[in-house]
Amino acid sequence: HDRPRALSGIQPTAESFHLGNYLGAVRQYVALQETHDAFYMVVDLHAITVPQDPERLRANTRIAAAQLLAAGLDPERCTLFVQSHVPEHAQLGWVMNCLTGFGEASRMTQFKDKAAKQGADRASVGLFTYPVLQVADILLYQADAVPVGEDQRQHIELTRDLAERFNTRYGQTFTMPSPYIVRETAKIYDLQDPTAKMSKSAATPKGLINLLDEPKVSAKKIKSAVTDTDTVIRFDPENKPGVSNLLTIYATLTGTRIAELEQKYEGKGYGALKTDLAEVLVEWVTPFRARTREYLDDPETLDAILAKGAEKARAVAGETLAQAYERVGF
Ligand code: ADP
Ligand code: NA
Repeated sequence: HDRPRALSGIQPTAESFHLGNYLGAVRQYVALQETHDAFYMVVDLHAITVPQDPERLRANTRIAAAQLLAAGLDPERCTLFVQSHVPEHAQLGWVMNCLTGFGEASRMTQFKDKAAKQGADRASVGLFTYPVLQVADILLYQADAVPVGEDQRQHIELTRDLAERFNTRYGQTFTMPSPYIVRETAKIYDLQDPTAKMSKSAATPKGLINLLDEPKVSAKKIKSAVTDTDTVIRFDPENKPGVSNLLTIYATLTGTRIAELEQKYEGKGYGALKTDLAEVLVEWVTPFRARTREYLDDPETLDAILAKGAEKARAVAGETLAQAYERVGF
């Protein structure tokens, strides 16, 4: 391959992506398909690390794929597929499990957070080893760049450690990947608690913008976003996390610099900023929803895109797996 490789995945664990997924990750997927040989997948194997209803999972996987296409992924310019369609992920995942220290896996902060939410005894072993499956996901494609939000940084570090460990033990096999994290949008915050990241497991649904919600509902959430008791519109994440989060969202959706927005809203109140941002969001999300619908209403096309993607992905993943298995002694 002439271009550097990019690889990333997104979970089908909700009926819709949220604004944090889009700004923190999916936007970068779209940009990197122009410069990279890019592979993007809906990670349904990761989804079952917590209990899933089978029919719901199947539907959410299709919705996730439709949303990736609606966001601008072009199956002619990238490879879009579903993780479970490519068995090499689980196959290399096992090898990586055997290379990972128990203590090393125990230090993954996302596991600690997610396990705590479920009650440590009820968390699955799959949830515990999910970062190791993610290592296999990345290494199978010899990825150079992994576009993700800030919360995934530690998992990319683990990937680098395991790539090096495998290469040292068995001979040069895997490319060393780097996280591709756009600082400005690496962490979009909850609208009701702007010190916590926007997440599908949000404490209150009012803090979370779901991209498939009625635009009116999302507009309302923007208008009732928590800010502070000051009135100045200034980007200051430390002291003004709520306002800063709104400015980040506004700047990114419109391609405006934050300094320009600060100037535009000088002497105006939070109400004006929220009203305008609500409008910006509605204008962006309305066609996005319509495009998602179109893909969902045409299941043959969506299936064909995903089948072709899986075939392209397997060609690369199969080659890497064969080499890795041979090195291990299989
Ligand atoms: P979630 O974290 O909501 O469960 P995923 O784990 O499926 O969602 O994450 C998909 C991608 O979206 C990952 O690259 C993750 O880093 C990114 N992401 C998730 N939440 C945010 C957020 N609030 N801000 C920026 N990026 C995010
Ligand atoms: Na995440």
